[in-house]
Amino acid sequence: MNIKSSCRAALWAASLAPGMALAAPAAPFFFYDQSDDFINAMVARISDESADQGLHVTFNDARSDAGLQSDELHRDQSPSILVVNPVAASNSEESLLLAKELSIPVIFFNRPPEEGMLDQYDKAWYVGVEPRKAGIYQAHLMISYMQDRDGWDRNKNGMLDIVLIKGEHSHVDTVSRTSAFKQAMALTNNELNIIAEAYCDWDRDKAREFFRTTVSSLGLKDVEAVICNNDAMALGVLDMLKERGPLPGYGSNGYIPVIGVDGIDEALEAVAGQRMAGTVMQSPRIYARALVGLALQLLEGGEIDDSALGAVVSDDRFVEIPYEVVDRQRAQEMVKENSRR
Ligand code: BGC
Repeated sequence: MNIKSSCRAALWAASLAPGMALAAPAAPFFFYDQSDDFINAMVARISDESADQGLHVTFNDARSDAGLQSDELHRDQSPSILVVNPVAASNSEESLLLAKELSIPVIFFNRPPEEGMLDQYDKAWYVGVEPRKAGIYQAHLMISYMQDRDGWDRNKNGMLDIVLIKGEHSHVDTVSRTSAFKQAMALTNNELNIIAEAYCDWDRDKAREFFRTTVSSLGLKDVEAVICNNDAMALGVLDMLKERGPLPGYGSNGYIPVIGVDGIDEALEAVAGQRMAGTVMQSPRIYARALVGLALQLLEGGEIDDSALGAVVSDDRFVEIPYEVVDRQRAQEMVKENSRR
């Protein structure tokens, strides 16, 4: 905790004592769905970070229901800020209009508003990733896996045969991660052959069932890798593979290379234990620090100090959360760090 945030935390604690007038700065957070594994990890980190930095937060869970999020957005008559992970484009638009009407800041995160919307209001911000980078990093992980193993082309057809498991159909992360992965692979000399693909809405169970159906119709011998738009779906693939037990001829661990995105704890353990070939981390901790820090700075007014956010701020009010490539070695370090926390 830095000095500024520890002072804030002390002021906040004092404000909770009976009779004291000073109230902690407050920010309502609106999540698209807290049952989403990645969002759930973020909620936990935002709770910790807000206690550290002295921001009073309230959490609203829309459970993937745009109508419910709309009601939640209007529940408080006089919010000082809105921090929104929109369910749908209609919710982004609504949040922007509401913030404008009340003349308060609005921060979108994880799911960006439609293009051009941030330009319409100078108190509107977006905290998120540059999704193309995740697809490129997944291609790096794939290539380094292939370089380490001469036998990756198990069916000897001269191509890399993959199953592609995608997130929600129109989510920018789905579209950009997938296309960037394909483009990055096309720049190498390896021909990519997508033998099956589906949208599984970021969901572990849907991915497991899709992979089960794929394997029962095509068999496993032509599946040389599984690329997933997030870790929850990668873990769904592992669930199905675990039911079958180790596969003969698939290396010492009997596993197909599965690559995800997010770096949630269970996936880090799977990468460390070589059940997954890698993931691309978007750290909920960094997200939380940036979101809570930005909310506080906007509530205080004045210039934004990006050094306190732990993320890069661009002129168009985009706060970029960095990705990190996580291979086996890095995952082992991260698992160790987590166990010490
Ligand atoms: C994450 C997914 C998550 C989605 C929710 C993506 O950035 O990778 O795991 O389900 O955001 O919007």
